[in-house]
Amino acid sequence: MKEKLRIHGGARLEGEVTASGGKNAALAILPAALLADSPSTIENIPDINDVRVILEMLRWLGAGVEFSNNTLVVDPRTIDKYNPPYELAGRMRASYYLAPVLLGIFGRAEVPLPGGCDIGARPIDQTLKGMRTLGAEVNTTGGVLSVSAPSLEGADIFLDMPSVGATVNSMLTAVSAGGSTNIHNAAKEPHIVDLANFLSSMGASVKGAGTDVIRIRGGRPLHGTNYTVVPDQIETGTLMIAAAATGGDVIINGAIPTHMEALSAKLLEMGVNVTTEDDCIHVRSNGVFRAVNVKTQAYPGFPTDLQQPLTALLTVARGTSMVNETIFEARFRFLDELRKMGADVNVVEAKTAIINGVEKLYGARVSATDLRAGAAMVIAALMADGTTDIDGIGYILRGYENFDGKLRSLGAMIERIEVTDDEF
Ligand code: EPZ
Repeated sequence: MKEKLRIHGGARLEGEVTASGGKNAALAILPAALLADSPSTIENIPDINDVRVILEMLRWLGAGVEFSNNTLVVDPRTIDKYNPPYELAGRMRASYYLAPVLLGIFGRAEVPLPGGCDIGARPIDQTLKGMRTLGAEVNTTGGVLSVSAPSLEGADIFLDMPSVGATVNSMLTAVSAGGSTNIHNAAKEPHIVDLANFLSSMGASVKGAGTDVIRIRGGRPLHGTNYTVVPDQIETGTLMIAAAATGGDVIINGAIPTHMEALSAKLLEMGVNVTTEDDCIHVRSNGVFRAVNVKTQAYPGFPTDLQQPLTALLTVARGTSMVNETIFEARFRFLDELRKMGADVNVVEAKTAIINGVEKLYGARVSATDLRAGAAMVIAALMADGTTDIDGIGYILRGYENFDGKLRSLGAMIERIEVTDDEF
């Protein structure tokens, strides 16, 4: 059954909400759990479509998988396959994280190549470089990432850019490689640190995560563990922006303020009141915003995944804002949807958009063109005068647990509506 979101704009968001566990942390940690010689219990896993797909893959590979109330018990001892099928693995990008894990277990793996998303080409040359540097034979013909290695040896990996995926895959390969591996120019995102902490809790020797160089002494036996995934940095940021956009007063519990510093600083620059305690963030706004310039960068810079939600807010800021999307080459497609709501936005060249603030947005029928674009459309709809229908909410459900329910609990007038065939 296809659904859409119907949002009546204008409600101030007020109250408290709790951030779910990190999608991008969970998508790296779940494959890593297969490297243990005994079961793991992992808590605070978001119940989202991407997680459900990767759990289906773990079951298909033969692992024991029990998932309820955001807690997973995974038993890797019964895994007996190294080649997840396209029907499963082709449905999401992070499935290629299984390649280094299955390589470590079986000495070989065949995993469908990750799909390109609507935000750019998304090559994986740095992942291939990392695995080859540690001794793997890597082949990508036929849309399948085939890797094999009778044995893996630690070495120095120099990434051309701080790629999250390449850092994850290099880490997951290195823990199975004998000797020391140093990953240089590593990504520093919170989910990289969370993966490092998870691997360490399994008995791996991983140091330096969160800095430019991650040092791993591999080849050690890894055991099952009990672990709790970090809160989702991007969901937290999306809720912060939604609170600001509606002139609201919202406390986001379970958040880690240091993960949010780039966004908090930008919201403060716009005139939003952001205060933090140990594990919560309080956002208050009078609904009036200064225009600002935003440049996305790898962590700890402003996250590319929050560029689209913040751009939605900038459409009603006072003045002209410039958004420079340096990470992905096609992350402005959703501007066409914002224009349908009255936004005055222009892409001046592939990676730069100019946003001229308008008095208000108006409800319209729009579509989500990718996961974070969908979140941006929700934020625009919460601010708009009138009613907005958002199609393509499958994207949103991939990455946000109970997003509409959380917003409704804060006072948003938002509902899921079944899409009849003759609509959209
Ligand atoms: C991860 O994607 C996230 N996905 C993305 O989140 C996020 O936008 C991105 O990191 C950046 O933070 C997951 O964690 C599952 P990259 P990833 O490798 O690993 C280029 C979301 O909304 N590049 O850091 O694919 C690449 O083209 C998603 O949750 C190469 O050129 O991102 C891009 O321009 C969207 N060669 C840039 O680097 C490579 O081998 C960053 O990519 C790898 C990357």
